[in-house]
Amino acid sequence: MIGGRLIILILYIVGVYVFSFIIGVANLFTFNNVSLESLVNKTFDYIIVGSGSAGSLLAKRLSQNKNLTILLIESGGDVRPGFLDIPSLGLMLQGTAYDWKYTTVPQKWGAYGLAGNRSKWPMGKLVGGTAQFNNLMYLRGHPDDFKEWYKDLPSFDYKRDILPYYKKLESTGDSFLSRLPFTSSAAEYALNAFKSLGYNVNKNQLDSFVGFGSPYVNIKNGKRWTSFHQLLSHDRPNVFLLSHTTALEVLFRSNYEAYGVKYIRSGETVVSLARHGVILSAGVIGSPKLLMMSGVGVKSHLQSVNIETKLDLPVGDNLQDHITTGFSLVTFNDTLDFGVGISTMLNPLTALEYFRTQSGPWTTVGCEVNGFINTKNPKNPLAQPDLQLMMLPLGIEEDSGLYLRKLMGISDATWYNYFHHVNKSIAVLPVLLHPKSRGTVRLESKNIDKQPLIDPNYLSVEDDVETLYEGIQIVKKFVDAEPMRNLGAELNALPLPGCEHLTFDSEPYWFCYLRHMTYTAYHPVGTCKMGADDASVVGYDFKVRGTNRLYVVDASVFPTLTSGNVNAAVLMMAEKAADVILEQLFLKTGFCCILEIFKMKTVCEI
Ligand SMILES: Cc1cc2nc3c(=O)[nH]c(=O)nc-3n(C[C@H](O)[C@H](O)[C@H](O)COP(=O)(O)OP(=O)(O)OC[C@H]3O[C@@H](n4cnc5c(N)ncnc54)[C@H](O)[C@@H]3O)c2cc1C
Ligand SMILES: *[C@@H]1O[C@H](CO)[C@@H](O)[C@H](O)[C@H]1NC(C)=O
Ligand SMILES: *[C@@H]1O[C@H](CO)[C@@H](O)[C@H](O)[C@H]1NC(C)=O
Ligand SMILES: *[C@@H]1O[C@H](CO)[C@@H](O)[C@H](O)[C@H]1NC(C)=O
Ligand SMILES: *[C@@H]1O[C@H](CO)[C@@H](O)[C@H](O)[C@H]1NC(C)=O
Ligand SMILES: *[C@@H]1O[C@H](CO)[C@@H](O)[C@H](O)[C@H]1NC(C)=O
Repeated sequence: MIGGRLIILILYIVGVYVFSFIIGVANLFTFNNVSLESLVNKTFDYIIVGSGSAGSLLAKRLSQNKNLTILLIESGGDVRPGFLDIPSLGLMLQGTAYDWKYTTVPQKWGAYGLAGNRSKWPMGKLVGGTAQFNNLMYLRGHPDDFKEWYKDLPSFDYKRDILPYYKKLESTGDSFLSRLPFTSSAAEYALNAFKSLGYNVNKNQLDSFVGFGSPYVNIKNGKRWTSFHQLLSHDRPNVFLLSHTTALEVLFRSNYEAYGVKYIRSGETVVSLARHGVILSAGVIGSPKLLMMSGVGVKSHLQSVNIETKLDLPVGDNLQDHITTGFSLVTFNDTLDFGVGISTMLNPLTALEYFRTQSGPWTTVGCEVNGFINTKNPKNPLAQPDLQLMMLPLGIEEDSGLYLRKLMGISDATWYNYFHHVNKSIAVLPVLLHPKSRGTVRLESKNIDKQPLIDPNYLSVEDDVETLYEGIQIVKKFVDAEPMRNLGAELNALPLPGCEHLTFDSEPYWFCYLRHMTYTAYHPVGTCKMGADDASVVGYDFKVRGTNRLYVVDASVFPTLTSGNVNAAVLMMAEKAADVILEQLFLKTGFCCILEIFKMKTVCEI
């Protein structure tokens, strides 16, 4: 038995290193056949920086008009072995050449259980961006989230201004919504437990309303399906994709009109020009970084890194992230098997099942049960939730510390004294949906290769700890619910390094716990806030304030976090932005004035 486990772990860790090596080699190659000479000083209609969720969707929409040429610039590689579309492999891309491998600065108010008090922030550095290794969950958020975004736009109406874009996204011919292709036996138990606690359990969870169910995912025929996959699935002779190419600077005319992008490719610095606009979709770190490199940012900061300020805007402020906690808190007897452990994943029969039926454990996205709760107003089914609860049928201890704990940056002290002793657990994770803490992204230097200084300022507002504490109370009730008790569930009472002096399960203990076990839920947003006030970087038309023909469209424009995983909202915003940008183009060129009057605008989008 012990020997069997050891062999599996050896296979696993060898697999991880071989995998990482394959990615490293793949990343050296490029399919790209666009010659540099054909780009120098050449004019495109639009230049899009970043081929992630937003950038790929914009490229798809804008290029539907065959008269428009689009240059799509991507820092990462474009060779992506097809087997990476197996959903469960996403996790393995973290820490490889396809990851920017960001780390936050040491956190002052939390994350003490992580090495150096730093949180690791994986982010996609390849075509398709972060969605190439995210967990594929698709949740629209709550209508009130968007009312908050558009609070300075009195005429705002969710049903008219947001919902149609979600529907457009979801109803496109190559739409990518599917039910979970696989859940382990733990899902049934967990749903029953939540039901027994009186929560509404509805299986169709698209909007983030109070209640429990299982999420929709971006999977098609058992494979990962992103906006980049969509872009590739169409013939697009008018999109020029340049991988391994990093944008260095947006070029402005004296009236702040963006006219081109300076970028570096194979060591050569090149300029391409944009006739109608430059769109930054470089993500929540990439977009503010590029703006600051171009002289758009907080003046005092730009001065401190010797960049001449062209426009003084709060770029990099307003950083927010969903915080979660509670890994390996719900523990079981060692002998329990939900059918998703390493041995199942490495079992050849699981592979066979996948290739024969495009389902089974290899299609897992991790989260199997998802719920939304409003702790202050628990009875109102329509209230905007303040907590999300995600159930994943695994704990960090699953791979004996070989890989998972390193991805998450768990400190040695916390690993060896705490997680290491857990035999078997599942993750029941409360996620703080609307944190009050705000952080910043700043440049460390003018050098493009340097990582920016990322400070989410986790738990700097006490309220955030209090809401998460309510989440812990729900986890406790969950453990006590009959379906869980019958399985022998117990709350992990091992002494947590840093909190050993406190009585287990007392309020001070949990507050201490939360400030140690502070994890990212991987949803940073907000660094180029959209709005109409002085704290905004872009207007409601996605245009950088005070400039012309320069847009930002990606997770960085969120004024606040949505109630749920953010990728659906990123895609929805990109749909909206495509409409806004094309409308501006056609209005400018007069093409659609007549159609506009007769409400036939869709004709222009072709
Ligand atoms: C581990 C993990 C799990 C997640 N799970 C989920 C989930 O289940 N559901 C969900 O809704 N959300 C999830 N998310 C979040 C979601 O995937 C992201 O919020 C979303 O993909 C962000 O899209 P984006 O377009 O803003 O940026 P990205 O997709 O990150 O795209 C930015 C692109 O720009 C490129 N770039 C950056 N700088 C430059 C430059 N200077 N020049 C050229 N190119 C540049 C990057 O390489 C990248 O390809 C997860 C995130 C992570 C990390
Ligand atoms: C591109 O434009 C720059 C600036 O106008 C000029 O110096 C350079 O020679 C041009 N390069 C080519 C290849 O035309
Ligand atoms: C595309 O260009 C052609 C030729 O200039 C023009 O006739 C046509 O109307 C254009 N179509 C759109 C959708 O702009
Ligand atoms: C991490 O936080 C703890 C608790 O506040 C502190 O004692 C320690 O010095 C911090 N370590 C670093 C590297 O900042
Ligand atoms: C775990 O379960 C097995 C089988 O039910 C039982 O024999 C064993 O005593 C249990 N171990 C613990 C530590 O409870
Ligand atoms: C793990 O299992 C072993 C053997 O069954 C047991 O002695 C130990 O107490 C368990 N650890 C925890 C943290 O429950």
